[in-house]
Amino acid sequence: MDSLKISRRSALLGGAMVAAWSASPLRAAVRAAQSRATPAFIDDLIAKMTLEEKAGQLNLMPSSWGPGPTINPIVDTGGVDQQIEAAVAGKLTGVFNGNGAEFHRRLQQAVVTRSRLKIPLIFGADVIHGYRTVFPVPLAEAASFEPGLATRTSRVAATEAAAAGIDWTFAPMVDVARDARWGRGVEGSGEDPYLGGLFAAARVRGFQGDDLTADNAVLSCIKHFAAYGAAEAGLDYSTVDISPQTLRDALLPPYKAGYDAGAGSGMASFNEINGVPATGNKWLLGTLLRGEWKFPGFIVSDYTGEQEMVVHGYAKDDRDATRLAILAGCDMGMASNLYYTYLPGLVRDGHVPEAVLDASVRRVLAAKAALGLFDNPMRRIDLKREKAVMRRPAALALAREAAAKSVVLLKNDGGVLPLTPTGKRIALIGPQAGQNDLIGPWAPFGDDAKCVSFETGIRAALADPGLLSVVKGCEIEKPLAGGIDAAVAAAQAADVVLLAIGEGQFMSGEAQSRAEVVLPPAQQALAEAVAKVGKPVVVLLKNGRALELKGAVRDAQAIIVTWFLGSEAGSGLADVLFGKVSPSGRLPVSFPFESGQEPYYYYRKNSGRAQPPGPHQDYKTQFRETANAALYPFGHGLTYSTVAYARIEVPTAMAQGGSIEVAAMLTNTGSVAVDEVAQLYIRDQAASMTRPVRLLKGFAKVRLAPGESKRVTFPLRFADLLFSGEDGKPTVEPGAFTVWVAPSAQADGVKGEFTLAG
Ligand code: NOJ
Repeated sequence: MDSLKISRRSALLGGAMVAAWSASPLRAAVRAAQSRATPAFIDDLIAKMTLEEKAGQLNLMPSSWGPGPTINPIVDTGGVDQQIEAAVAGKLTGVFNGNGAEFHRRLQQAVVTRSRLKIPLIFGADVIHGYRTVFPVPLAEAASFEPGLATRTSRVAATEAAAAGIDWTFAPMVDVARDARWGRGVEGSGEDPYLGGLFAAARVRGFQGDDLTADNAVLSCIKHFAAYGAAEAGLDYSTVDISPQTLRDALLPPYKAGYDAGAGSGMASFNEINGVPATGNKWLLGTLLRGEWKFPGFIVSDYTGEQEMVVHGYAKDDRDATRLAILAGCDMGMASNLYYTYLPGLVRDGHVPEAVLDASVRRVLAAKAALGLFDNPMRRIDLKREKAVMRRPAALALAREAAAKSVVLLKNDGGVLPLTPTGKRIALIGPQAGQNDLIGPWAPFGDDAKCVSFETGIRAALADPGLLSVVKGCEIEKPLAGGIDAAVAAAQAADVVLLAIGEGQFMSGEAQSRAEVVLPPAQQALAEAVAKVGKPVVVLLKNGRALELKGAVRDAQAIIVTWFLGSEAGSGLADVLFGKVSPSGRLPVSFPFESGQEPYYYYRKNSGRAQPPGPHQDYKTQFRETANAALYPFGHGLTYSTVAYARIEVPTAMAQGGSIEVAAMLTNTGSVAVDEVAQLYIRDQAASMTRPVRLLKGFAKVRLAPGESKRVTFPLRFADLLFSGEDGKPTVEPGAFTVWVAPSAQADGVKGEFTLAG
């Protein structure tokens, strides 16, 4: 009885989704292309399908070719020939993480010639930050504070991937990551929902382009929906228990921004939210996503997510898990085969209305139509184009530009940087100097061996390459026999040390939670020994997350965060090191003083006993060991000059529904040109729900010649002030707001105030 009730509601929801599809940009794209795959064509097709064929359209499996079978928990794909026969028999809607046009051609050809209904397959892949050309990891790219850069890199990624036959990328990953212990922050845009939203939309635009039927466009997938980054203790896959207000205000905005930008699909996350796994969460996928947000596209589970609802303790068994997932609005199952196995029986037995199944099939077929697959199933499969478009010079030049814009200069005592390319003897020391750890943890189609290493990039920038010595010193996580002695000797013989250390790329990414966000002890020991030599030390840090920096690393003269910079890592880094490019990156995540502060993020509440800046005081919100602050806060990043912030202009009042313009004067007080990232923050001083101490509401990258002053303006709209009220609805109350224009979330910058009128 209960299941019947649920079924009817779901069926109604299915109807609403069909209506949403009729009004969607995807449908417009189909119409514009004058496709034969009209909604009527899709309806006719659905009418011809058996229950098994419908279930097959909702069943996605890893490719039996390429990285597919090995980069996730192993599932049996049966090998290439068996997979082709399964596809021809209508058991698959597509495969993912296959490699190369040749395999995609074989599969598609078989299906469109030999299967009963000739419904083209869709080919998915994890193309997160590049295909063969690898761009900086998304967290690094977010440090550019330049969403337009992400559109450009995603466009290239789409062009390369599509030439290999890929129709659909499982990107962008837009999970807000406020806990550095969580390993997957590296795939997203950091801790801030506003910055995250801009990057989510920018990437969707890049992947999908203006015309989804184009042979260089791929369908985006907003993942992981939702709140995947909010796992307790940063433990991947673990419980998310969160207030509706924090969920809406701090975590959901990037997903919403990605869907609003027209992403055609989404992926349900592995985690539960407040007791209900996302894959079976009717509120999340139905009420919110399809209802409130009017999302017309389809949702895929994340790699056996539906099956995992049994382990979660939410579904009784695999069949029950299938029923719960499809009724919640999860249209497609990934990697479990459960949808194919159980959906026909569930419909026959009356546990799932056929209308629900049809609605999911319709959404999937609509996406295939929007991609132009019914008109030309081979449109993205082109062996010649595949050969021609990979790693083109323009793509590599963009990778270099992106790398240079992604590095963040944390510290530069005594102006040790930029280095001069002549005269100085440089010792490049550390396990991160070489041909390793360049593409990051989740670039399955990239290759470290094809990237420019730090050593290669730095050597190429030197007038006399003979002045560079390179010593490994230790392994990523282990000492190396004689390593420290060799490193110390190299430091003694040099004028300056570049210390290339940090996390291995295997230390972040999926399932790579860390109990402590610190450097491996072997590398810390190397840093201490090298520092004792007394030469200026520039730390070149590789990292997939914010780290605690200690001892000789924290105290080095200069620190550059390099994340994982991709194909042109070494050349982009060298451009900044030698001052060819002015450093402009800003931290998209806060670096704590102590690992134990995690989750530490700037977007926090004040508490009733806030710790004022300055020395430790009793009975305040702080740790015995450290202040409630960041060593390097969100938004922080130095240039090779100094910029003064002055003369904030804030109108005294904003009208209800109105907007104001905030302005400040920036002056380059140094002797080299800079790209300064000025940031606009607000604080609602008193509200019916306590508000964070600061919220980013805008930023501007401003080029300033030496001595130049510019008045920078920021719009601030009424909508920017809204928050989720006690009833969860958008609200804002009249009263005072503080405004800062500042170089980071923790810097004073310049400060003003306005009142929201009643
Ligand atoms: C699991 C990951 O969570 C997801 O991000 C990825 O897209 C799938 N595996 C497919 O590889």
